[in-house]
Amino acid sequence: MRQKLVIYPGSFDPPTNGHLDLITRASTMFAHVSVAALRNDAKAPLFPVEERVAMLREVVAPFDNVSVDSFDGLLVDYARRREARLILRGIRAISDYEYEVQMALMNRKLFPELETLFIPAAESYSYLSSRLVKEVNRLGGDVSDLVPPNVAARLRELRGKQ
Ligand code: PNS
Repeated sequence: MRQKLVIYPGSFDPPTNGHLDLITRASTMFAHVSVAALRNDAKAPLFPVEERVAMLREVVAPFDNVSVDSFDGLLVDYARRREARLILRGIRAISDYEYEVQMALMNRKLFPELETLFIPAAESYSYLSSRLVKEVNRLGGDVSDLVPPNVAARLRELRGKQ
């Protein structure tokens, strides 16, 4: 069956321009892109999932075929509930590849009809990660070129309180 829906899962803590680049690429390829933020309370995210979803919704507002949701538990269970058969993940560098293939194969083991599609991130974002954005922001660096403006504003507010 040809896939109309692709799920783009992640922590998005916070969303970056790298995530937006991938969403933009996917929006031209699929009828519908569903961005799914993992709740992940155990990992003590900087932003609660409700806030990550709200920031992502602002970021994807210009796209009429992209929606944002959150999930908890196994990605394969979420994909089943959504009747999705395709997962999208970005690959920045070859170092991402090993972990991503491991996840894709585990997901396939748990849900054989579920395929994972990898898209290379734009070269200009190959060094970008949410983890480094958080660190640079916390230590007073400028992250405004690395994240969408609404996310940069939230990070600035948070820095004032850290
Ligand atoms: O942005 P991230 O942190 O690289 O995203 C990782 C994510 C959310 C895609 C992955 O951790 C995930 O799918 N977690 C849900 C739990 C799960 O299904 N674990 C088994 C994966 S093999």
